[in-house]
Formats: sequence, structure tokens, C-alpha cells
Amino acid sequence: MRLPDFKVEQWMNDYENEAVYNLTDTCVSPLTFQQLVSFDDGQSFMNLKLDYGEITGAAVLKKQILSLYETGTEENITVMQGCLQANESVIYTLLSPGDTVIAYEPGYQQFTDLPLSIGCKVITLKLYEENGWQPDIAELEEAMKQDVKMIIVNQPSNPTGVLFSEEYMEKLLQLADEKNAYILSDEVYRGLYDEPSVSDLYRRGISTSSLSKVYSLAGLRLGWIKGPKEVIDLINVRRDYSIISTGPLADHLAALALSHKEAILKRSREIVSENQKIVEEFVNSHPIFHIVMPQAGTVGFLGYEAEINDTMLAQQILKEEGVFFVPGSCFGCEKHLRIGFTCDPETMKTGLAKLLEYLEKK
Ligand SMILES: Cc1ncc(COP(=O)(O)O)c(C=O)c1O
Repeated sequence: MRLPDFKVEQWMNDYENEAVYNLTDTCVSPLTFQQLVSFDDGQSFMNLKLDYGEITGAAVLKKQILSLYETGTEENITVMQGCLQANESVIYTLLSPGDTVIAYEPGYQQFTDLPLSIGCKVITLKLYEENGWQPDIAELEEAMKQDVKMIIVNQPSNPTGVLFSEEYMEKLLQLADEKNAYILSDEVYRGLYDEPSVSDLYRRGISTSSLSKVYSLAGLRLGWIKGPKEVIDLINVRRDYSIISTGPLADHLAALALSHKEAILKRSREIVSENQKIVEEFVNSHPIFHIVMPQAGTVGFLGYEAEINDTMLAQQILKEEGVFFVPGSCFGCEKHLRIGFTCDPETMKTGLAKLLEYLEKK
């Protein structure tokens, strides 16, 4: 089976190394190995035996992961090499050709194109900035008249940073329940604040996440799935054919990070909120820009009013000024730039000033 290019990942692969001012990264400024292991005074990882370890994830790690949720036991968790793989495993395990899936646009391409690649029918519900990127309940009700197998949400979202309203989520859970549909909730941007998890709220809710974004540890490639035991059991059959385990070293370091999550999250909150303030002030002072400021997550979707299209803008401003953005078109929405509140605040200030100067010259 052939997959189309994953536009945002392709864009990052092609251009990220040219960035001088990276204003688009979704991962909060990464921790070094030294910073991580300094949490472990005794360096107990030096004595780890590098066998396959516990196949579905070390028990100590699962315990730490469970501390991020209100419900569940170890049987509800399986550990993966990142959230992307966690989503892939859920989609490939639960969906078959002909199944109907609901996803949202602008959104992360994996949620539409992976189900399409296995022959699912995908209903895409559009989100609009004038509605604060909130979905429409009537459209959901209409879509749910079909025999929907899975709804895929991303809370907080990439690229908009928005969490769906409580009212919408209540309706979604009720309609999904009536249809016995799964909700796959990519929660890779959850954790900075007190965002709820779908896996705590719904009997067929499956939440995926990782240490990549708010925990600043994308290089560990460590994620997980939390869901009903029968789903986790099915996924664990599949993992024997693909990854076996994530290995004792990654599991140990991930457990170490999560046992110090308050310190890591405090650092991330400070970086994100300082950058958000800078962006908010910038947008308020320059009416050619607009943004729905997110209440959670690490990213937002900066709109602009100018003739130049977003792909051209992102390419040219990188080439001429070294300022790096992912264009909105990679998420199915033009005249926007995906912004990450993750960099050094001085970089954010300089990069935005260069963006303004560039557009004013146009
Ligand atoms: C919505 C979403 N899910 C998953 C991923 C990948 O996460 P991980 O690094 O944990 O595989 C990303 C990365 O950009 C993302 O934006």
C-alpha cells in the first residue's frame, strides 16, 4: 500500500535544518541527556541489562503513565515508540476497509490519510477560525447518522492549539456511545494544564500520547496508548509483529522523566506562556495578523492578511531571513502559519519582527 507524502513531516524534513529562527517547532525546547540523567543521582541506568525488557512497557513506567490519568490499571496501557506509532497501531488494529471514520480539518494528516490508505471512508468536518476553530454540533449530528466506527480528535490540536468545548465533547461522547464508536484521542499536546483525557471519560475512548512535546524529550521516541483492555490486548498482538518492545533504556529514562514531571512541566509552562505573551502582543499591535490564542498545548495557528500564499511566504522568509514556519496548507488551511510557542523568547521576538518587516515590504 502506498501512502501520500505526509505534508507537515515532509516540510520539516526538507527545511528545518535551514532554520535560524525556528518559530514553528511543536516540541518545547529539548532537554539534554545530561539534564535528564541528572534527575537520577545514583545513575541506576548504568546497571540496566539491555535485553528486550518488559514487552509492553516496564511496570515502573506504566505506573508513572497512569499518574497522568484518573482511571485505569497497567492492563489499560501499552508503550510505543512515540505517539505517531501509537496512533498508527490503533488505526491499523481497529479499522478495516469500508469502515467510516470522522476527522477534522485543519488537522494532522495522519488522521485522514492513514484510514483512507486502508480503504476507509473518511468524513472530514471543517473547522473555521471565525468560530474559534470550534466544530459545529449540527454537522457532527449529521455525520453520526452514518455507521461511524471511529472518531479521531486531537486535544489540544495541531495546528490550532484549541481544545473542543465541553458542550461539544459531551455531545460527541453521547453520540459515539449510541453508535458504539471508538474515539481515538491524540493527546500528545496534553499535560501543561489540567486538560481531561478521553480515555478517562468514555468506555471506548483510546488516548495516545508521548514524551515528545510538553516533556521536551522527542529523542527518547517514547509514547503510549491508554484504552479499554480488549483494545490494548489486540494492539499487543500486533506489536509482536512490529516493534516487540521499546527496550529497558528508553523505558527507564521515560519513567525517570515522569517521576520528575512537575519540574519538567514547570519549565515548559514558563517557555510556552512567555512565547504566547510575545505572540499575543505582536498580533494585537499589527492588524494584518490574527490568531485564536490557545489555552493549552504548544502551538497556535497564525493567520495573516497579505497577497502572498502561505507556502511561498514560508519558503521565501526562510531563504531570505532564516525564519522558519510550517505553512497552513500542510494542514489543509491557507494564509496561516503554524507557530510553536517552544523556542527561546528572544528568537520568537526577532523572528516575528522579521516576518512583519518582510510582509510590509510586499
Ligand atoms: C498531533 C500529533 N500527533 C503525533 C505527533 C508525533 O508525536 P511523537 O513524536 O510522539 O511520535 C505529532 C508531532 O508533530 C503531532 O503533532
